[in-house]
Amino acid sequence: MANVVVVGAQWGDEGKGKIVDWLSERADVIARFQGGHNAGHTLVIGETVYKLHALPSGVVRGGKLSVIGNGVVLDPWHLVKEIEGIRGQGVEITPETLMIAENTPLILPLHGELDRAREEAANPGAKIGTTGRGIGPAYEDKVGRRSVRVADLGDRATLEARVDRALTHHNALRRGLGIDPIDREALIADLEAISEKILPFAAPVWKVLNEKRKAGKRILFEGAQGALLDIDFGTYPFVTSSNVIAGQAATGVGLGPSAIDYTLGIVKAYTTRVGEGPFPTELTDEDGKRLGERGHEFGTTTGRQRRCGWFDACLVKQTCATSGVNGIALTKLDVLDGFETLKICTGYDLDGTRLDYLPTAADQQARCTPVYEELPGWSQSTEGARSWADLPAEAIKYVRRVEELIECPVALLSTSPERDDTILVTDPFAD
Ligand code: IMP
Repeated sequence: MANVVVVGAQWGDEGKGKIVDWLSERADVIARFQGGHNAGHTLVIGETVYKLHALPSGVVRGGKLSVIGNGVVLDPWHLVKEIEGIRGQGVEITPETLMIAENTPLILPLHGELDRAREEAANPGAKIGTTGRGIGPAYEDKVGRRSVRVADLGDRATLEARVDRALTHHNALRRGLGIDPIDREALIADLEAISEKILPFAAPVWKVLNEKRKAGKRILFEGAQGALLDIDFGTYPFVTSSNVIAGQAATGVGLGPSAIDYTLGIVKAYTTRVGEGPFPTELTDEDGKRLGERGHEFGTTTGRQRRCGWFDACLVKQTCATSGVNGIALTKLDVLDGFETLKICTGYDLDGTRLDYLPTAADQQARCTPVYEELPGWSQSTEGARSWADLPAEAIKYVRRVEELIECPVALLSTSPERDDTILVTDPFAD
């Protein structure tokens, strides 16, 4: 297959960074197509740990083109810092290795302030638990047609006009929230200053990628967050503000849908969630604590402790459907080592009726109780396994049962953060 999309099939933090890095060796282009620096991808290469937020994971591999597509919202100040940090780790980043779509909307400081002010003002039940990075407000401005976009940085008059359009809206909002109005001149000066560092990377990404595609180059689309945080198909309103599902890969860079040949869903062997919102299989007992400790479940971006629970096959079957997942990469199986019994959610009970999907209505979601199936655990370590023969029989049974329940095969099995601790079943890039 020529082009592969990688999407998180749960609430994010499924271990996409390692898998994307693993696949990026086989790709020519690595493209981000949604989200922003709310994402946190950790790559472990040899002794070095890279923490990426806005940059595509491909930047740490030489000889690849990394792309930030128009579906992303970009904080230029954060990006420049991230580039400098990664350069400090010895990675070369040039306009030949990194391109930013000219039609990418910018995240301005006012977006972060608004995001945080709203979260602070919200009543406990209404808080989203955002990353506070301005993602939602920046996407609101995009669809509200008042974004400052990368291309606007090249011309002072256009930049001023775009800033004025945004400020008309934001200053009114800020008055309502009791925040000082924006200092227009300071914002324009800051944008002009940062533009020198951003514009060298600006490019007509849609054109470059269409040409790459015609030339037979392999494109890896790197999703951020997870399908249950999708603005349409996630647990709304406790979601992020972009489409996370695989269909977004095409619109988020400017390719047609036929450019997607294979969709790989990244699935953790249990479930986690950061932030607020429904989580049917959440465990608040010792088992949940143990998953969190063994799995080091702390957010890469915010450092927040993640909520943990049993594997929800019902939800993953749903996300595999909405993203058209061809195969999954199952990660962190080793975190389940040592549990005597494991539970998998196979559906929900809603007022005495069995459901095989999570209903959309919030009141119904709240009344859904998970229906579990129990499987025997295993005592041996699966950490670092590199072949099926290294896995205990019960672990293999668990994996097979997951495949059956979600109706999707395992293409890759990851057994530690190390890139080589991976069992390959199907190469998503294979023709
Ligand atoms: P926002 O994307 O900052 O607006 O946050 C909205 C929701 O998405 C919150 O529940 C966040 O915790 C969650 N979220 C955003 N980015 C990530 C991520 O990369 N991993 C996991 N959760 C995320």
